[in-house]
Amino acid sequence: MKAVRVPKEYAEEVRKFVEKIKAKDKGRLIVQRGDYIEIPVYNGFEDYFSEFEDYFSDYDVIEQEKPLFAKKYDLFEILKKDVPEGLHDSIPKRYKLIGDIILIKIPEELEKYKEHVGEVLLNMHSRCKSVWLDRGKKGMLRKPEIELIAGEGSETIHRENGCFFKLDVTKVMFSPGNLAERMRMGRIVNDGEVVVDMFAGIGYFSIPMAVHSSPKKIYSIELNPDSYHFLIENMRLNAVRTIIPILGDSMYVTPEGIADRVVMGHISCHEFLPVAIRALKEGGAIHYHESTPEAVLNRPVERIKRAVEAEGREVDIKDIRKVKHYSPGVLHIVVDFFVY
Ligand SMILES: C[S@@+](CC[C@H](N)C(=O)[O-])C[C@H]1O[C@@H](n2cnc3c(N)ncnc32)[C@H](O)[C@@H]1O
Repeated sequence: MKAVRVPKEYAEEVRKFVEKIKAKDKGRLIVQRGDYIEIPVYNGFEDYFSEFEDYFSDYDVIEQEKPLFAKKYDLFEILKKDVPEGLHDSIPKRYKLIGDIILIKIPEELEKYKEHVGEVLLNMHSRCKSVWLDRGKKGMLRKPEIELIAGEGSETIHRENGCFFKLDVTKVMFSPGNLAERMRMGRIVNDGEVVVDMFAGIGYFSIPMAVHSSPKKIYSIELNPDSYHFLIENMRLNAVRTIIPILGDSMYVTPEGIADRVVMGHISCHEFLPVAIRALKEGGAIHYHESTPEAVLNRPVERIKRAVEAEGREVDIKDIRKVKHYSPGVLHIVVDFFVY
């Protein structure tokens, strides 16, 4: 990416001129480096504006080392200059910031530009250290399938809602889109409650509950040793003492008859409903997550009713909420219900 490098005292005049001839790259900011000012110009501008060759011969036209991007110019605006027009519709409009790491999904047809996309993102977010291509999550353990495309480093500390989440993006997932639900869970627990978090991960729900509420105990069950490792780290980082971490399969290790509240924070966990119900005391609450196609939106409630009835107990459905769009035509739903 090119810039005209001019001594400070000439910068204003050159900026006006560059803008007048429409050579200024509006996607980047003018920056000062030492006694010089770098005015960003479009790549190849010299070819188009050869008539102004004399004017620019007094200054250096440089390859800019650390461009600063104008915030209002998003990734799309920057990339569309480098990607053929036929592929513009495929340029990603969104990406995730987890601590100082960026995760982005790139459609197959744009994969050959992945390193460039990575560099552009690193330049846009100078506090970030690496960019990873996100190919989704695999299996019940929700293991990330990702590839490094710029910078280096996979471990980070994500701060949100007064909590710290340490994680390695190559080993465990993190969904920034579930923020509202993590905040809600942090404030839903009544004083002195016993909570069971059946799919605790790195403490997505357990940590905010322990930080923002006053439970008696939170049994946080996690099957994946990598996630369990970070759960322990996060207990330490957040200085919480009410979490009892359990490494194991919640199908077999969930305690019975002790919980005021059970969190079922896995989008595919309906088979665990009987175990969750048995963990509850009379009148206890469950927060049940499910990825549900829009065509069968009553499926989660039907599953809950069937499971509660099979346990010979009664259900009171309290709330059905959308956490986020999971994929086209599929919602991530959470149902709050009480069991008597
Ligand atoms: C997808 S994460 C939860 C994400 C969370 N809802 C959020 O806000 O981002 C679910 C966790 O459940 C764990 N898990 C899967 N099956 C399990 C089981 N049978 N017992 C305990 N943990 C399990 C996975 O390893 C993963 O860490």
